[in-house]
Amino acid sequence: MPPFYKIWFYRAKLKLVGQLLMKPQPRPLTFVGPRSAEKLSRAIGEFGIRKLLIVTDKPLRELGALEPTIVALQSHGVAAVIYDGVLPDPTAQIVDAGIAQVKAESCDAVLAIGGGSSIDCAKVIALAAANNYSVAECIGVNKCKLPTLPFFSIPTTAGTGSEATCIAVISDNDTHAKGAVIDNKIIPRATALDPLIMQGLPPHITAATGMDALTHAIESYIGTLGNEDTDFFGLAAAKLVFEHLPEACSNGDNLAAREAMAMASYYGGMAITQALVGYVHAISHNLGARYGVPHGLGNAMVLPHVLERLKDDAQESMARIAIHAGIGTWEENPDLLAQKLIDRIWQLNEQIGIPATTDVIKSEDIEELVDAALSEGSSYPTPRYFGRDECRQIIEQLRSA
Ligand SMILES: NC(=O)c1ccc[n+]([C@@H]2O[C@H](COP(=O)([O-])OP(=O)(O)OC[C@H]3O[C@@H](n4cnc5c(N)ncnc54)[C@H](O)[C@@H]3O)[C@@H](O)[C@H]2O)c1
Ligand SMILES: [Fe+2]
Repeated sequence: MPPFYKIWFYRAKLKLVGQLLMKPQPRPLTFVGPRSAEKLSRAIGEFGIRKLLIVTDKPLRELGALEPTIVALQSHGVAAVIYDGVLPDPTAQIVDAGIAQVKAESCDAVLAIGGGSSIDCAKVIALAAANNYSVAECIGVNKCKLPTLPFFSIPTTAGTGSEATCIAVISDNDTHAKGAVIDNKIIPRATALDPLIMQGLPPHITAATGMDALTHAIESYIGTLGNEDTDFFGLAAAKLVFEHLPEACSNGDNLAAREAMAMASYYGGMAITQALVGYVHAISHNLGARYGVPHGLGNAMVLPHVLERLKDDAQESMARIAIHAGIGTWEENPDLLAQKLIDRIWQLNEQIGIPATTDVIKSEDIEELVDAALSEGSSYPTPRYFGRDECRQIIEQLRSA
């Protein structure tokens, strides 16, 4: 297809997705602060839930992260059974096992306690079980008719914002390519942003997941699908990340920094749930699918490279982010402000220990990675669509010498 028709086709496809997302979206009832997970547990009891499935992963269960919530649920008359089979970037098979358990145990609700992987897995368990669908039948936009089983979330990482989005990312069993369930029905009914449960998050995961929140803030803000509401959340999230991520990484016990990052994650989620993401995610998702690069780490490494190439196309919006984040002032030129934003991201990456390159990318894979990233990027509202050379250059720059 000639480039002009391609871009026209991309825009038409995006307009369709945009119209679906622009429907008014429900917002979760949100509890914030230390012990807010216990307040959510009380609310779940008051909603009349009597038995729920907790969706989580083994490391969190072994760390004892579920205990306070299980005790609080029990004291409010809610029994809990646990599905701890979630792995990072969950596959359809992992979700299907959860669907089988929620049905076998006759649970009347689902509660995610975990990072984005557990929350996404739980979203699809709650949706598929209520509709009697397999995971494959849920992948796509608005594939299910019935609402989810009542669904709640307690994020334990601060980054994906999945606690606020209509999106669940599920990987293919064989290729690990990421697919998405996009449906307003999977936005949690209520969520708790509890910094106590994030205290034990190791610095490298704090850093990577925090940069996912920053990527959401920036990609939603510079993209073409944003609106007043998503712009507000994007700016707020970016400011919080620049101000609080270094402290959350170096002093994980600082509850104020943890809470600020939990809010940054939620705000980033509020932004992408309507305004979507861009090439940073398109490239990072494919590094995750092919080599298992964690989602936030991939985003952190790719973000400054993509912004370098978009700074002429998104100069004004990058300048506004820089001003709101306190990186520059209104008196400065937009092109200087855009560059200051990029420089600050490089500096932040270095400060929090994000490597600039990786040795996992194999030269023989590069053309396929470019194809996959360009194909995914074509469905995002990016300020400009990349050509092959540009995309290839970014991937080459990520490779260790
Ligand atoms: N639905 C959305 O809107 C959305 C947005 C962005 C990303 N995602 C998806 O989210 C997934 C990534 O989620 P993530 O970055 O939160 O990581 P994750 O959920 O995969 O967790 C990463 C690791 O951190 C550990 N962990 C989590 N919380 C912990 C805690 N408090 N203490 C100690 N260890 C803890 C987990 O056990 C796991 O080993 C990807 O699959 C990505 O595609 C979804
Ligand atoms: Fe993300």
